[in-house]
Amino acid sequence: MAAKKLYETFSKALIEEVHRWGSLKQTGVSLRYMMEFGSTPSDRTLLISAQFLHKELPIRIARRAIELESLPYGLSDKSAVLKVRDWYLDSFRDLRSFPEIKDTVDELNFTQMIKMIKVRHNNVVPMMALGVQQLKKDFKPKTLPTNLDEIHQFLDRFYMSRIGIRMLIGQHVALHDPNPPPDCVGYIHTKMSPVEVARHASEDARSICLREYGSAPQIDIYGDPSFTFPYVPSHLHLMVFELVKNSLRAVQERFMDSDRVAPPVRIIVADGIEDVTIKISDEGGGIPRSGLPKIFTYLYSTAQNPLNENLDIESYDAVTMAGYGYGLPISRLYARYFGGDLQIISMEGYGTDAYLHLSRLGDSQEPLP
Ligand SMILES: Nc1ncnc2c1ncn2[C@@H]1O[C@H](COP(=O)(O)OP(=O)(O)OP(=O)(O)O)[C@@H](O)[C@H]1O
Ligand SMILES: [Mg+2]
Repeated sequence: MAAKKLYETFSKALIEEVHRWGSLKQTGVSLRYMMEFGSTPSDRTLLISAQFLHKELPIRIARRAIELESLPYGLSDKSAVLKVRDWYLDSFRDLRSFPEIKDTVDELNFTQMIKMIKVRHNNVVPMMALGVQQLKKDFKPKTLPTNLDEIHQFLDRFYMSRIGIRMLIGQHVALHDPNPPPDCVGYIHTKMSPVEVARHASEDARSICLREYGSAPQIDIYGDPSFTFPYVPSHLHLMVFELVKNSLRAVQERFMDSDRVAPPVRIIVADGIEDVTIKISDEGGGIPRSGLPKIFTYLYSTAQNPLNENLDIESYDAVTMAGYGYGLPISRLYARYFGGDLQIISMEGYGTDAYLHLSRLGDSQEPLP
């Protein structure tokens, strides 16, 4: 990786522009707003949406680029982090060098460009994880600062912002679909059945478990399959997938060598007025209380870490049972992005309950770090 220092690769003028844009105010949108805005896409609404993104995306991207320059413990100088910073600066430059969007032709070109930006940033999460790992290697095990809170908080902000940027781009691009699937407004499904999504996500997690262990516990889902509410199915899929994967692994590891049949993982979907709550319960032995404060950090995993220096991230198939320590913190960010939350309750010696709360009202603004 031949990432270079800032001024070797980027002009002074660009860096100054990044700082100027990074100090402007971000504008958050809500699920409901995105849904209402995109419900009848026309050339005019697409134009307005593109004009909004033309202004909003550089602000959000500039903020992250600036933050990437001043991370604690020398994290900013790690080659993987420099690479991520370059992706952000390239995208900022692309956006800023795009002229004012005046008509449908401009709009289509702009859409093409932000689609490319989304692809450029596909591997930000494993690349940053690699950067943190590079940092960890600098410290001899005993000298690693126990309190890496600053880094975890930075990563929370950074990934939360990324979720927002990808949602906005994805939503805008999807609104161009001339034949959208029924009841879909871009990424949003106006009649999403959480039970159905939970079923698909569970099947996906189960097949990975089967691949890795040769067997997998049963998964039982309780709840009304006909109940629906507006949400982003890909987000819910990701969260349930991660939680079920954790449960399957815990149960599998605990019962692999036992004579007893592995107890099923149970998923309960409750439709409240304010929240839809999905509880994922397992009898996988729980998490020790001393480990609980760490589970939402980006370094806590009891699995073997699959990332290493020689790995080719571009062609890496990121789906494994466990190993990054990213499943829980990232899932919680997705939940919070639309005003929900994720809680983990453990009974050591018995099992774990994960409570995934999703806000039903859809009117909470994106949290903007
Ligand atoms: N249901 C569970 N039962 C027991 N331990 C759990 C459970 N869920 C999480 N854990 C513990 O918390 C740790 C962190 O979970 P997390 O999903 O964030 O990362 P991971 O599963 O190790 O790796 P990945 O990033 O691939 O998900 C796990 O390694 C495991 O030790
Ligand atoms: Mg996990």
